[in-house]
Amino acid sequence: MAQVNDIGIDLGTSQVLIFQRGRGIVLREPAVVAVDRDSSKILAVGNEAYRLIGRTPGNVQAVRPLRHGNILDLTLTQHMLHDFTAQVIGRHLFARPRAVMSVPTAVSETEKRQLMNIMFDAGMRKTQLLDRPIAAALGVGLHFSEAYGSMIIDMGAGATDIAVLSMGDIAVANCIPLGGDSFDDAIIRYLRKKHNLLIGERTAEEIKISLGTAIPPSDRIEMEVTGRNLLSGLPKTQNINSQEIFEALKDAVNDMIEAIQSVIERTPPQLASDIFDEGIVLTGGASQLAGLADAIYQILGIACGVADDPQTCVVAGCGKALEDPQGMKDYLGDGRHYWSRR
Ligand SMILES: Nc1ncnc2c1ncn2[C@@H]1O[C@H](COP(=O)(O)OP(=O)(O)O)[C@@H](O)[C@H]1O
Ligand SMILES: [Mg+2]
Repeated sequence: MAQVNDIGIDLGTSQVLIFQRGRGIVLREPAVVAVDRDSSKILAVGNEAYRLIGRTPGNVQAVRPLRHGNILDLTLTQHMLHDFTAQVIGRHLFARPRAVMSVPTAVSETEKRQLMNIMFDAGMRKTQLLDRPIAAALGVGLHFSEAYGSMIIDMGAGATDIAVLSMGDIAVANCIPLGGDSFDDAIIRYLRKKHNLLIGERTAEEIKISLGTAIPPSDRIEMEVTGRNLLSGLPKTQNINSQEIFEALKDAVNDMIEAIQSVIERTPPQLASDIFDEGIVLTGGASQLAGLADAIYQILGIACGVADDPQTCVVAGCGKALEDPQGMKDYLGDGRHYWSRR
């Protein structure tokens, strides 16, 4: 039975979002845990831990428990989920809520089972997993119940889920360890090589958001970046421009587009032709890289659009599944149904 405090969770590699029935999105925090290296003690979770990244004294480490799309550290994941769910539903419950959770498809079956146990310990009565492409499609409001192919791609930080949906199910899919982090890493490598400049992950992300582009920039935007001179070891300020960052991102963008192409190549011809007619829908934060949808169109010849508010689509889809357990039972089922489906 549906309950008012039921929740939907998008467990991303860089962000966790929680939706609550009747309230909408009630939590949106970085998927980060700050740990004391010496004592292994957990110091902070979410927003507070994020503030520590790159600014931490030597003995404090900021860890993203889901870094590359699978679970790096189960204890930290557990701590993070307990903290976030407690913020939303409180610690002392009269009625245990139900949860619908979406995780990157790269998370293994064993890990999924562990996540369900973690959620049970955190006070959930029952946790059902929703495949990420389905969650994204529900969130966007894509109709995929007919014998017609639709392509949806959720580009997160550490992983990207690429899927062709048809007849209410996933026809072809792949989850690749590429996403916004790969773009950040490409910027870090480029500046190190070209300017002997060492920058941190947060700076790289800022550069990506202000200057990053997947197509040649129409006008040259510049920005001052401070990092460490690799030769002298001293702080260094360097002027960089959008043309350079375009060059820096080129290979990573091409890798992403190749991965999309290989899913299309594995798609039955009829469904593939539907995709050529209808285009591709992009969700997830990394899909906001300037010019990415255009680059996909230029290389693959398929129209491509970014969903409105792309970072909330997955949690919105979990929320929709929560509201309509009956209509969504094919996607959610009970625990057993879920396991037997694979
Ligand atoms: N405006 C933007 N332009 C480019 N990338 C962005 C932008 N805003 C956020 N991102 C990137 O989106 C990624 C996070 O997307 P998100 O869907 O929240 O990830 P996940 O689902 O893996 O937690 C990060 O790599 C972040 O840098
Ligand atoms: Mg996401």
